[in-house]
Amino acid sequence: MTPDVELRQVVKEFSAAGKSKRAGYQVRAVDNVNLQIAQGEFFAMLGPSGCGKTTTLRMIAGFETPTSGEIYIRGKAVHDIPPFHRPVNTVFQDYALFPHMTVIQNVMFGLRMEGVPRQEAQRRAEEALDMVKLSHAAARRPNQLSGGQQQRVALARALVKRPSVLLLDEPLGALDLKLRKEMQAELKTMQQRVGITFIFVTHDQEEAMSMANRIAVMHEGHVLQVGTARDIYERPVNRFVADFIGETNFFVGNLVEKRDKVGVVKLADGATFEASLPLDASSVSEGKVTVALRPERIGIFPPGEEDDMPREVPLNVLEGVLYEMDYIGTDTRYTVEIAGTTLVVREQNVDYEDNYDFRLGQTVKIFFPAVSATILQE
Ligand SMILES: Nc1ncnc2c1ncn2[C@@H]1O[C@H](COP(=O)(O)OP(=O)(O)OP(=O)(O)O)[C@@H](O)[C@H]1O
Ligand SMILES: [Mg+2]
Repeated sequence: MTPDVELRQVVKEFSAAGKSKRAGYQVRAVDNVNLQIAQGEFFAMLGPSGCGKTTTLRMIAGFETPTSGEIYIRGKAVHDIPPFHRPVNTVFQDYALFPHMTVIQNVMFGLRMEGVPRQEAQRRAEEALDMVKLSHAAARRPNQLSGGQQQRVALARALVKRPSVLLLDEPLGALDLKLRKEMQAELKTMQQRVGITFIFVTHDQEEAMSMANRIAVMHEGHVLQVGTARDIYERPVNRFVADFIGETNFFVGNLVEKRDKVGVVKLADGATFEASLPLDASSVSEGKVTVALRPERIGIFPPGEEDDMPREVPLNVLEGVLYEMDYIGTDTRYTVEIAGTTLVVREQNVDYEDNYDFRLGQTVKIFFPAVSATILQE
């Protein structure tokens, strides 16, 4: 099927020309980005500040022209199509409603500008307000609404144009945490109901993971990985992705053997363990590698209690020294040193007496299955 939105080798460079001090300065805000977004997909672009998310969105919308590369919407090249003729609409972070107009007037405004007759514009605006559950507030002015309600007016204003694709640039950034959570759930439900393709920009990993079908992780203008929340969390392609999404331990070793899906890694002290190869197994070769391992996927045992270790799956067992232990209510965080590397282990406290058997400075054993660790090229 033709993707709804496709970017092929898209590059955007900004430069400061002229005689100013900044002249000659050049930045590659977006560097060779390839993306295919399916119809009806909730697609998130996730990455730290300055990684090129807004610039990418603005090129899809038509507010910026790519320096090179191609953009297609529904199979059609859009380079020569001005923003208002593209079948996309954008909700910006600062959604700036017209303060002197009522909610419904705000929503109708764009349609009226396009010459849609008043009655039809009104009917469509009512429909859009219904979608965002604001029909009851149609006659109010923006300053009589909460932040979340204003945000929903901005959404209605974009939806009323019936775009094929809705672009959302950190649309929940201005809301407090509780409202943000509520709006996340509402947006997701609404997107499923209306079936419009959403491209949603955020720097909040939890927001991206909980809402999107697929996520593109961006860094310095590059898309590093595209995948489901699970792909990205369980099989990050590199250290940046592993580090950006959730908490991760890294340890460096030597990949001494590659088998089907797993590799054998040897640590500085000679100990070996098995870990999973990345989704693209050819991206790592024997030699120095980094292994990413989530703290919650590691089990820990004090000496003498190894017999209690679960045995349903083959486990890697490594020995280390416990030198920090923090009880934080739901969990206990153990810091263990193994072959010169510090690892954090997080275990849920399911019993009152959990972690009573541990003493700082003692030798402990940690264990984890190969499937929980990912080998990354150093
Ligand atoms: N008009 C411009 N002129 C020059 N540089 C720009 C321009 N717009 C963006 N940039 C630069 O391009 C890079 C990417 O910016 P962009 O706004 O796309 O980042 P972002 O991922 O949206 O960040 P944030 O999360 O902070 O919104 C940054 O280095 C930024 O300074
Ligand atoms: Mg931005």
